[in-house]
Order: sequence, then C-alpha cells, then structure tokens
Amino acid sequence: MADDATSVVMSSPVAVAQALAGMSDEARASWRKADMPGRPAPAERGLDIPFPFGWFPAMLSAELAPGEVKPLRYMGRDLVIWRGEDGRARMLDAHCRHLGAHMGYGGRVAGDHLECPFHAWRYDGEGVVCDVPYAERIPPSLTRPCERQWPLAEANRMIWFWYHPEGVAPMWEVEAFPEATDEAWTDYEIHEWRVYGSLQNMAENAVDVAHFRYVHGTATFPTSEMIWDGFRRTSVILAELETPKGRVESRIEARMIGPGQSATRFTGLAETLLVAAVTPVEKDEVSVRFCFTQPKDQTEGLSAFVARGFIAEVCRQLDQDKVIWDRQHYLPRPVVCDGDGPILPFRQWYRQFYAEWAGTPA
Ligand code: FES
Ligand SMILES: [Fe+2]
Repeated sequence: MADDATSVVMSSPVAVAQALAGMSDEARASWRKADMPGRPAPAERGLDIPFPFGWFPAMLSAELAPGEVKPLRYMGRDLVIWRGEDGRARMLDAHCRHLGAHMGYGGRVAGDHLECPFHAWRYDGEGVVCDVPYAERIPPSLTRPCERQWPLAEANRMIWFWYHPEGVAPMWEVEAFPEATDEAWTDYEIHEWRVYGSLQNMAENAVDVAHFRYVHGTATFPTSEMIWDGFRRTSVILAELETPKGRVESRIEARMIGPGQSATRFTGLAETLLVAAVTPVEKDEVSVRFCFTQPKDQTEGLSAFVARGFIAEVCRQLDQDKVIWDRQHYLPRPVVCDGDGPILPFRQWYRQFYAEWAGTPA
C-alpha cells in the first residue's frame, strides 16, 4: 500500500510539472498570458454565472499618470479610466453616450474631464456631459449621471473599482496593507497570467486541501485554521520548511476581503506580502497579477534565499493550477467527501457576493 500511495503522490504532479519544467523562462512567461482560442463557450462549462460584487484591482496607480486615458475591459464590459489634472482617477463605461465611440482610444483629458475623440463631448467622473463644444444646449438627459457608476479607491499602490450589478454603493472600504506603501519594503515584483476560468473556482483553490498533494506535489495535506468574518475570510497555515539550516516553522496568513481583494502574508524565516490582483475580464477569463513585496533589508543571506524561493513556489503553483482552471467546469452542486477541506463552507461564504442569488437556496 505504501508503494501505491507513493506512486499516486509522484505521478499526478509530475504529469503537469514535466511540461512546465521543460519550458524556458521566456516560453513560460508567454504561455502564462497566451490566448486560448476555440475554447468551449462559458455556458458549456457552467461559467455563465453572475460576477460577484466587491472591490477589484483595475491597475497599478503608477500606470495612470495625471492627464492619461486608458481603455480597460473587466466584468464583460468596455471601460475607460483617466486621471484628471487634480490627480484623481475616474472610470466610466467606455462608449460615449452620443454615438457610441470607445473613449479609451483617442480620448483625452481636459482639466479633470474626459473628452470623447469623436465629437469632443466632455464628461465628468459620474458620466455627466459638461460640454458639447458645438451645441448651444446640452440635452437634459445627458446632464444626469450615468446609470452605472464605477466608484474608485486608491490603496496599496493600486487603483480599485467597486462593482455591483445593481449599482449598490460600496458596502465596505478597500483595506490598506501597511507593507505595500512602506518605504522600507521593496517595489512590487509582478508576475502575470491570463486564466480561462472562473474567479470562484480560483479562490476555492485555497481551501481545497487535497489538490495540494496531487497538483503541487506537497508531501502532506496542509492544515489550516479558517476564520469566516462577514465579508472577510482568513486562513492561517503553519508549515514546516526545509532549509539549509534545518526545518523552520513558517506561517502563511491568507486574507480575502470580498471576492476581489486578497493579501497573503508569509512570515517566519522570511517575510513577504503578496497582493493578488485577480479581476474577471469575461465569464471565462480572469486577469491575474501577483504583486510581491519584501522588506528591503531582507535582500541578502538565508532569509532572501527563502523569500525568493517562496515567490518562485507560489508562481510554480499558479502555473500548475492554471492547467486545471483553464479547462475546469463550475459545478453548482459538487459532491465532496471528508478530507476535501472546507469547500462547502467556502461556497456558503462566497455566495453572499452574488446579488442575483440573494435569498435563493444554495
Ligand atoms: S460619439 Fe462621443 S462625442 Fe460623439
Ligand atoms: Fe493550487
């Protein structure tokens, strides 16, 4: 039996890891973001479900200078984001209320307003048309804000947008992670992926304890303590790490605030904060940017070695998960067994973020 168990442990992770390990760093980086044409339609995979509400990362604050306009696509919508001369970022649905031009392509900032590239109508951050340069009268309906508002916040060196399908105002604030803006910590080291799956399946991975062994090849099933706290969820994992100095106890605290904000803190021998910018683009496509920061004084010696190893390991695991996620279906009523980890409590917690499903049985 021991041999059987060993072969199960070894064969499954190796099957995925072989293809990934054989790639050059360059090939792996382009594989991570490659398109996946011809994939089945979202409905065929059970992914035609609502987007959950919450705060989601739009981009890094540094990627939008005052006076800059950029197109974005999230939540299955074309969006336009700009930063006014006053330094404030604003976001609207991208298509102009006049004749439908996409304002993210050729639009420009005029003061704090966005000017459409087609006929130069100007918008404020709520989508009110403030100026039509060639007309004497602005049609009254355009002097009211757009029905869909995109509240923004800046924290942790990122711009966050609030999404709610029914336009409900933000129900909590973006959480600030002190390390992210601490001068004593490094700039973000960023690794990027496109995942062709659902946000919920990806988040569920953290509580799916059995897969760690079969997908990631860990020697044991990690045990963690879960704290379910309203819109927040925290899991704490105590892990033994093999180091040149022997086994060292480490602590991994993974925190989610709603479905779109996540911070993982790795402490023990080395410290790392991972801010995961994971934002749905389409029903079956998710933009992933893992942003790592570490104390600057930890750039040498054993702790730096361990910290670098932690980043490499997290990225390696995401590569392996991506192979599954890119093809995984969403099963609304999965059959789980003992040993699977708290998948059902996780789903119960996550369900609160689907406005469309409020009050319906799980
Ligand atoms: S389409 Fe935007 S101003 Fe005409
Ligand atoms: Fe995983």
